Amino acid sequence: MATFITGATGFLGIHLLRDFLREQREVIALVRPKQGRSGFDRLDLLLTLTGADDNVRARLQTHVRCVEGDIRAERFGLDPAEYRRLLEETDELWHCAASITLRGDSVAPWDCNVGGIHRVLEFVEASARPVKFFPVSTVYTSGTMRTGEFGEDFPATTEVFENAYEKSKQYTEKLIHDWWLRTGNPCVVFRTSILISDRSGVDDFPGHTLLAVARRLRALLMASPPDEAVRVRWPVDPLATINMVPVDYAVELMMAMAKTSEGTSLPRAIHIVNPSETSIHTMRMALEETCDVRIRAVPGYPARATHAEYRLYRLIGPFFPYFNHRRTYSTDGVKHASFALPKCPVVDQAYMIRSLSALRTSIPVSYGLEELKR
Ligand SMILES: NC(=O)c1ccc[n+]([C@@H]2O[C@H](COP(=O)([O-])OP(=O)(O)OC[C@H]3O[C@@H](n4cnc5c(N)ncnc54)[C@H](OP(=O)(O)O)[C@@H]3O)[C@@H](O)[C@H]2O)c1
Repeated sequence: MATFITGATGFLGIHLLRDFLREQREVIALVRPKQGRSGFDRLDLLLTLTGADDNVRARLQTHVRCVEGDIRAERFGLDPAEYRRLLEETDELWHCAASITLRGDSVAPWDCNVGGIHRVLEFVEASARPVKFFPVSTVYTSGTMRTGEFGEDFPATTEVFENAYEKSKQYTEKLIHDWWLRTGNPCVVFRTSILISDRSGVDDFPGHTLLAVARRLRALLMASPPDEAVRVRWPVDPLATINMVPVDYAVELMMAMAKTSEGTSLPRAIHIVNPSETSIHTMRMALEETCDVRIRAVPGYPARATHAEYRLYRLIGPFFPYFNHRRTYSTDGVKHASFALPKCPVVDQAYMIRSLSALRTSIPVSYGLEELKR
């Protein structure tokens, strides 16, 4: 019997795969070939970057079967025999594949997240035996809620969103819930906050959100006249907080929660978040220190933006809503767990600076500049 994972080449998926292999599980990974690399080669490269030791890396050869497909396609694009085999072998499914682009006008999240969940639900339903099903969602199904505590009610009933990504994830939850009403198949939906890691990365590694912001700031610096300090005003709530959860902790917690979910008959959402919020002020300081850009917090977009600010707002505008929240997330599901919780690292300035070390080792010079040209 095997654990089937989608999105194993993603930031979350590759860390889950690492820990499945630590447990010596048999794994089937649905992966897309890319840039001339087979799905298997991509996993091999990425696994190395998760800090997996030699034993775990060797298990990639012996314990992982890679199937190349696309979650949006009928039968994931697999031939009928391969799909049947997948159905026969799977007893647990972790659905991590997603489009996480924050571009407000993007159709990608609908295409991938909503299109994909239809295929994944078809798969679980077609299985001859009960499949333990763990779809991954986000605490950002809370949408534009600025203050208060977002609960673990399932599905989220939010109606107003910052972008198409959030809306697609909430709609995905609704589809899972409707499917449960129809089929009676339970599942545990993990809603994570922003995943982060302080392991130094390289270009090929799927980056975390803070790194994406920092890379855009570096792109701004590179597009600015040399020898001129780049100063920008940043429209944020100075008292805002952001929840960043270290991926190693998130994976450990999700796997432990999954093991204790036996006998669940209802679909439920569990928040996988950092018990300590990080202040936006701390994040701003870490970005200043690593990106050589002076950032001044201001309450709203300035009436007259400088050239550098105009470019900054185009580059990281989609992230700004996340720098204006004071909300928190209920952690009742985790608090009532029947096991001792792992200790979650505090994401402070030092942690963030470590998490941005990939900027120093390998700055993709063109990063973000293409977006500036559009
Ligand atoms: N990252 C965060 O901070 C964060 C926060 C909250 C929730 N989440 C949730 O966590 C889950 C995993 O996110 P992530 O950060 O790991 O995302 P990611 O790094 O962008 O990875 C996305 C994964 O999905 C795969 N994928 C995308 N489209 C696909 C398709 N059509 N067919 C097959 N595979 C496809 C990608 O494959 P390729 O490598 O081939 O592109 C990649 O493996 C998502 O559900 C996301 O909503 C993430």
